[in-house]
Amino acid sequence: MLWTVLFALLLLLVLQAQLCVCLRELRASTATASASALALPPLPPPPSQTTTTAATAATNATAQRLPGAIIIGVRKGGTRALLEMLNLHPDVEVAKAEVHYFNLDENYRRGLDWYRAQMPFTLPGQLTVEKTPGYFAAPLAPERAWQMNPAVRLLLIVRDPAERLVSDYTQVLHNRLQRHKPYQPLEELLLLDDDIDDDGGGGNDRRARRIDPGYKALQRSLYHVHFQRWLEHFPREQIHVVDGEALVRDPYPELRKAELFLELPPRIRPSNFYFNTTKGFYCLVSAGHDKCLDESKGRPHAPLSQRAFHKLCRFLREPNKRFFDLVGRTFRWC
Ligand code: A3P
Repeated sequence: MLWTVLFALLLLLVLQAQLCVCLRELRASTATASASALALPPLPPPPSQTTTTAATAATNATAQRLPGAIIIGVRKGGTRALLEMLNLHPDVEVAKAEVHYFNLDENYRRGLDWYRAQMPFTLPGQLTVEKTPGYFAAPLAPERAWQMNPAVRLLLIVRDPAERLVSDYTQVLHNRLQRHKPYQPLEELLLLDDDIDDDGGGGNDRRARRIDPGYKALQRSLYHVHFQRWLEHFPREQIHVVDGEALVRDPYPELRKAELFLELPPRIRPSNFYFNTTKGFYCLVSAGHDKCLDESKGRPHAPLSQRAFHKLCRFLREPNKRFFDLVGRTFRWC
């Protein structure tokens, strides 16, 4: 009898010890899983992705590195302002010119070495950033960017898509005027004529005008279509959305959020910005020098009648809602 009780007690102790081990293992594996689900991948690119020139390597170990972060768009959303403002950070170096690697086949065919050669020289630990607004709406760009580095962090700056469209048209108009090329008024491109047969007899028909969904600049304003494509390759938390209107009103808070997203120590200060009344925008101050963006940023928009603008706003209401659902936040757009 005594032996049976002792044997049962021993069995109980062994079972308890095994249960403890199982529980500890389970806790450890869930902790790792939730940590990897929350944390973004580490930022500095692996050493194999860098090209070091012999001369510079010997002195200060600067190298051209693939970007750890890319501003993917939107065109006319404030991408240049965001890039220049991020560049205020001592741990950030930016590619000055747009690279157009993932969106243009002729550049993509040149390969990663060509892409890397477009990047600025950086010290180890510095973050390389490039911006090409054309990436956002380019069908192949998300897949290609993912193949370059699935851990790359993406920044998307958005603004009211109706205002964006007018800004987009204004830029194209300026380019055409500069090259003495013919141009069409915005309303002609944006609106289609529809004949409404009033009497069925062919005479006295009214003309209604509706938004042309095929207009290129309008397609670029359908943010949900493009964002969805990026989400097919990158997790939502790897894409930071910057509010373009907020950046114009007061840049510092948007830059602080971007620093957090990029896991950069807080180095950009409110004193890095001052409002320039002549320009009508914030300009940048760094090491005693001030800098405003060039005149192509913030120029007067081409005219568009209120009626047409309202039609455009109405047309964009549904696409905007779909974009808000995808990003998980709303914007006060028209
Ligand atoms: P508008 O020219 O329509 O005003 P991008 O650099 O992507 O082409 O975006 C250009 C837009 O950046 C400008 O559009 C302007 O509104 C916006 N922007 C944001 N901050 C700015 C700043 N500090 N200075 C000038 N433009 C700024």
